Amino acid sequence: MAFSRDIKIAPSILAADFANFGAECRAIEAEGADWVHVDVMDGHFVPNLTFGPAMCAALRPHIKGVMDVHLMIAPVDPYIDAFADAGADILTAHVEAGPHIHRTLQAIRAAGVKAGLALNPGTPASAAAPVLDLIDLVCVMTVNPGFGGQKFIESQLATIAELRAMIGDRPIHIEVDGGVDRNTAPRVAAAGADALVAGSAVFKGGSVSNSAPYGENIRMIRATAQASLPEVA
Ligand code: DX5
Ligand code: ZN
Repeated sequence: MAFSRDIKIAPSILAADFANFGAECRAIEAEGADWVHVDVMDGHFVPNLTFGPAMCAALRPHIKGVMDVHLMIAPVDPYIDAFADAGADILTAHVEAGPHIHRTLQAIRAAGVKAGLALNPGTPASAAAPVLDLIDLVCVMTVNPGFGGQKFIESQLATIAELRAMIGDRPIHIEVDGGVDRNTAPRVAAAGADALVAGSAVFKGGSVSNSAPYGENIRMIRATAQASLPEVA
């Protein structure tokens, strides 16, 4: 997983068919997904429940590339080893999930996994500043976490731009999660995001038995994002 700021599309399987997760992961990768974004929710940190490390372990053989696990849980620390053992490539924890984010990020890296820091829409970009040396990714939430299909929060474009300036040349991805589609993708990319999570906008119109629309959706989101970037000579 060499570092690159090229646009990556990370479909969120929150919008997939829950009875066919393995096939859905294979389908989105075959249709051009760069990463597979896996949303873990605990019904406590966020008002919705999904699944835990056993599901991640079950999905792992169905994902050839990067398994990007977004932990919307509190506490985080007791579960880090279980998600690492499940084969996560990236584990992203929320700064709002507890008082010891620094310790949590250290523990994620100590488990041999890339560490991500997620910021809710009510949290300023400056929350990332003290831990920049501990993270491989910062995830800017452009909805309040818990559900797919919500409206993109415009004010987060400024947070993305602020993080982009703060990160400079450091090899830290800027991921954007929530309400990303072909209309918002160019705006988040122009602000500095390189990893675009998209749930409903990728899975709409398709199914495991008709996955071509996934590819059309992924290509369209990627193309609109790339078109917003300055040409590199
Ligand atoms: C929201 C999740 C997102 C969600 C995005 O809590 O973290 O990953 O699946 O869904 P869309 O792209 O539909 O907003
Ligand atoms: Zn997510």
